[in-house]
Amino acid sequence: MDWYATPVKLSELSENGMIDCRVQGRGMILTLLDGKPAAFAALCPHAAGDLRRGEVYRGRIDCPVHGWRFDIKSGRTLYPADENLRLKRYETEVKDGEVWVQIAK
Ligand code: FES
Repeated sequence: MDWYATPVKLSELSENGMIDCRVQGRGMILTLLDGKPAAFAALCPHAAGDLRRGEVYRGRIDCPVHGWRFDIKSGRTLYPADENLRLKRYETEVKDGEVWVQIAK
């Protein structure tokens, strides 16, 4: 696992907002959760829907394709109940105001 800088600054993030970017070839979405950055994959774990067209609200992301809902903090599928599918999440850190993410090599 290595840390990589995203092109996103902490000051650009907002609760219930999202910014998409690519880091090391991976499409991801960044948002703010309880004042801290959170990052997750832009592809829905259900059927690879584009979560960039989804909606972030109160710590959840709703996929626009089939309406599945995921908890951004834990990655759990909230709707429908499915313990087998998880949202791909990335650990985050803030360095000098910039958001960094941890990615497996
Ligand atoms: S592709 Fe996202 S809910 Fe089906």
